[in-house]
Amino acid sequence: MTALSNPPLALYVHFPWCVRKCPYCDFNSYSLHGELAEDRYVVALERDLESQAIEVRGREVSAIFLGGGTPSLFSPGAIARVLTTARRHLAVAVDAEVTMEANPGTLERGRFAEYRAAGLNRVSLGAQSFDARRLEKLGRIHSPEETRRAAEELHAAGLGNFNLDLMYALPEQDVAAAISDIEAALALDPAHVSHYQLTLEPGTVFAAEQPALPDDDIAAEMLTACRDRLTAAGFAQYEVSAYARPDRRCRHNLTYWTFGDYLGIGAGAHGKLSCARSGTITRTTQAREPRRYLAASPAVPARRRIAASELPFEFMLNALRLTDGFTVDLFERRTGLAWASVAARMQALARRGLVVLEPSAARPTELGLRFLNDALLAFLEETPKTTGAARLSTVL
Ligand SMILES: C[S@@+](CC[C@H](N)C(=O)[O-])C[C@H]1O[C@@H](n2cnc3c(N)ncnc32)[C@H](O)[C@@H]1O
Ligand code: SF4
Repeated sequence: MTALSNPPLALYVHFPWCVRKCPYCDFNSYSLHGELAEDRYVVALERDLESQAIEVRGREVSAIFLGGGTPSLFSPGAIARVLTTARRHLAVAVDAEVTMEANPGTLERGRFAEYRAAGLNRVSLGAQSFDARRLEKLGRIHSPEETRRAAEELHAAGLGNFNLDLMYALPEQDVAAAISDIEAALALDPAHVSHYQLTLEPGTVFAAEQPALPDDDIAAEMLTACRDRLTAAGFAQYEVSAYARPDRRCRHNLTYWTFGDYLGIGAGAHGKLSCARSGTITRTTQAREPRRYLAASPAVPARRRIAASELPFEFMLNALRLTDGFTVDLFERRTGLAWASVAARMQALARRGLVVLEPSAARPTELGLRFLNDALLAFLEETPKTTGAARLSTVL
């Protein structure tokens, strides 16, 4: 009999406002109208943290991620309050990775030193591209120069452990332009690069406008060329879109991809919590709209137990993104299911060249990484069709 065990635990805190909503973005983020409700939101986060902390009493938190939206709209003092409250109510590891997302258009000079003093040790900077015209088309509020200055300030503040978010397959972009974005990013000496293919997400301005994008073959060529350039510079790809220098993989995101647990605090935040004693895994979802989240403070998240039949899909959705894949033991410990429940489906994927199966491990092939959706369809059979299919289209 396989037993579910409590996996590593992370904390995600969501900050839902941005200076201006980008036309391609479907994250739970809102253009800021008027003044930022900084104090009110921090108080709501503190209450949320206090009331959800009970769920994970005694468990160590190994990573914290302050994401958005644009957390860097909040002052270092506000960020310090949130982190102090987290440390008060949770057993945060002394060496925990603490990341904050920052938009280069929201940073005053000297800010990173203050954020570091507030408790951050890692930053994820939304660079997107280093082409001024393209940034404008993407609705970004910053220039390439501001991104360069932010990176310089990160190094000067002792926050050399930073990620740059880049997007490729942008309107009117060719392979040479995608590579020149990589070159510009490498010149800033980041520790990590997230390289996302632009997708037209339903409900966004771009989905309505349908800008012409490079076709699939060109996008695949960009991916290969950019990956080769990153690899040559000492960055190893470890997930579909993530590249890191040695020892600089993102611990927080690895918690997701290895089907670990996380507490989700803030408007629209999602959480996932395992209970080894009862053998159950529960998903939590906080009120999405900031107004509702603030009004309910402390908002009580909706809870949904993940049915055993959904677990293979949920696990694979994450673990098959990792270039190294996962062990059979990890699958069994994280889901509480026997490998036999997915073995035939994994063998079928191996026959199609989407995964490589070893005696006690599995990993996606290059084809599998590129056509992850196809691989995941194999695990949707037992999931109620609408839920699974909708989730596939929103997550990938
Ligand atoms: C929550 S945002 C990052 C932080 C910050 N809000 C910013 O934009 O500077 C996470 C990242 O997802 C990527 N992203 C957002 N929408 C995307 C889309 N439609 N297609 C591909 N990548 C996208 C962007 O690279 C973005 O930086
Ligand atoms: S990409 Fe970042 S800055 Fe733009 S709307 Fe989304 S969360 Fe906000």
